[in-house]
Amino acid sequence: MIEGKLNFFVVLAGLAVAAGVFAALFFISAPYGRHLRRGWGPLIANQSSWIIMESPAALVFAVCFALGSVPRNLPILVFFALWELHYIHRAFIYPFTIRDGHKKMPIAVMLMGFAFNLGNAYANGRFLFTFSGGYPQRWLMDARFWVGVILFLTGTILNRWADLTLRSLRQPGETGYRIPYGGLFRWISCPNYLGEIVEWCGWALATWSLPGLAFAVWTIANLAPRARSHHAWYHANFADYPGERKALIPGLW
Ligand SMILES: NC(=O)c1ccc[n+]([C@@H]2O[C@H](COP(=O)([O-])OP(=O)(O)OC[C@H]3O[C@@H](n4cnc5c(N)ncnc54)[C@H](OP(=O)(O)O)[C@@H]3O)[C@@H](O)[C@H]2O)c1
Repeated sequence: MIEGKLNFFVVLAGLAVAAGVFAALFFISAPYGRHLRRGWGPLIANQSSWIIMESPAALVFAVCFALGSVPRNLPILVFFALWELHYIHRAFIYPFTIRDGHKKMPIAVMLMGFAFNLGNAYANGRFLFTFSGGYPQRWLMDARFWVGVILFLTGTILNRWADLTLRSLRQPGETGYRIPYGGLFRWISCPNYLGEIVEWCGWALATWSLPGLAFAVWTIANLAPRARSHHAWYHANFADYPGERKALIPGLW
């Protein structure tokens, strides 16, 4: 009971922080990648940082699953599989694929990502596998479930394709930037962020849960301002950057 309240509190705190982060990121771009700059304290290698900050999401969620009390029927197994599909890749595969010539990021950024992933995996995992009381088998036939799962998988494919396209712009050891072309890059600067947002909106819909909704809101709050910063950076650094391209939403923004 007390832990149920704690879980709810973590979700509300996450939403409050998301609102602050959204406002702040329109004025300060998170200092990693192309936006890395002095003044954010000691640095750590990008690759180690990605592993350290993303692994709690995969591990804590798995522990919540192992300790969970709800019946392990198909909807619950699908939720577990989708989450781990994303986070095993993000924490243990993606860091070994980046081509950044051993760039670094501030430890402060890594710690913020670590704290977020810890709280978010706890909030979603404990809710789904314990406090929700479980999902009935008929949830599989509910449009919220299957539309959500389709959105999640579509977002995953878009996110991975776009990240692959970006890293293919560099040869091993290179650190510079080129203009990406092809697919959704024709219309927007950041299809990887759009894919990530679609994924977690799908998650919110499929799980129909407050922690799921909070995660989707957080992802938008984090990535929409960053897409705007990337877009402005491309225009500032490439005179021939395609003028018709938007930041995140084709034709709109
Ligand atoms: N759920 C969330 O809230 C959240 C938050 C952050 C990130 N993510 C996900 O984590 C992944 C990485 O995020 P990110 O912010 O690092 O993405 P990013 O800025 O698009 O960079 C992705 C990778 O591609 C390289 N790259 C990007 N644009 C390039 C270009 N024009 N030419 C050459 N190389 C280029 C970057 O190198 P540099 O590092 O040298 O710039 C980096 O290694 C994405 O899939 C994103 O969706 C999720």
